[in-house]
Amino acid sequence: MTLLFGGSLGLCVSVAILVSRTNAHESAKTPEAPLEGCLKCHDQIEPMHRFGPTATLDKLDNGKDALGLTCTACHGGNPAATEKETAHVRPRFPREWMRDGKFRIPERSGTLLERESPEFVRFINPGDLRVTRQTCGSSDCHSAETSAVSRSMMTHGAMLWGAALYNNGGFPIKDSNFGESYSENGAPQSLIQIPQPTTEQTRLKGILSFLDPLPRWEISQPGNTLRVFERGGKRRLETGLPDKDEDPGKPDK
Ligand code: HEC
Ligand code: HEC
Repeated sequence: MTLLFGGSLGLCVSVAILVSRTNAHESAKTPEAPLEGCLKCHDQIEPMHRFGPTATLDKLDNGKDALGLTCTACHGGNPAATEKETAHVRPRFPREWMRDGKFRIPERSGTLLERESPEFVRFINPGDLRVTRQTCGSSDCHSAETSAVSRSMMTHGAMLWGAALYNNGGFPIKDSNFGESYSENGAPQSLIQIPQPTTEQTRLKGILSFLDPLPRWEISQPGNTLRVFERGGKRRLETGLPDKDEDPGKPDK
């Protein structure tokens, strides 16, 4: 299990901002070849940043957005390749991403993405919180947002787990203890508040000192009514009916 700390991490690798150069000599020539191979197929995509320090763009400027960012600055992939197979980052589990012979992101891709490489996660969605430290949050631009969003209630859902577990007698402490957060390699991680809140801040403002991942089902309380939701949990067994899908050596009842 890895730990994700609050506060500023000092992990600021600046995204290179490429300022487009124009000089009279170059602009008189025929248009330059696109910067990245991606443009061969994706040149009609809207610029990710429309507004920049020197320009406002409705269309890409030779493959760059208004902040001078190219596709691979955010998505990764191979900028030199012009074929989809070599330009795109390949998934670890190619068959899981195919439907009717085409690349398709399946419904509820969450658990599949956790087993995928960080490079692939980044390629599919540079805004995924597992990779934002290399993308949006890698420079001063959005590091504060990236750090705040990873601890947001909308991300870890602690309110749901806290209310459901406490109110149903599944966990004895009323302050939320559990939340969902994943590291770059898809492992569940704890969220720790730095600096630690005072008792007063927790009581009056609800600031929590930490959130842990949901415990694995076989180490939580046996009588837990919500075991079915826990990591590794399955549908309830019916008394007297053996279940062929039950994990050997880990009887649920
Ligand atoms: C030869 C054409 C081609 C090139 C070159 C290409 N792509 Fe694609 N890309 C596609 C097609 C077609 C799709 C639609 C989904 C599919 O069929 O895989 C796609 C889909 C995507 C997607 C959506 C996720 C997905 O896989 O469906 C992203 C993101 C993407 N491309 C980024 C890039 C980047 C970044 C580059 C350059 C490093 C690039 N592409 C180069 C043709 C290309
Ligand atoms: C500033 C970062 C950034 C840049 C630059 C950027 N993208 Fe994206 N792109 C993203 C993010 C973040 C998403 C996910 C948006 C979402 O899920 O709503 C995305 C989504 C996409 C998708 C849709 C993926 C899907 O699964 O539906 C495609 C295709 C894509 N980008 C291609 C490109 C191409 C081609 C370029 C270069 C011309 C490019 N992007 C430049 C950040 C960027």
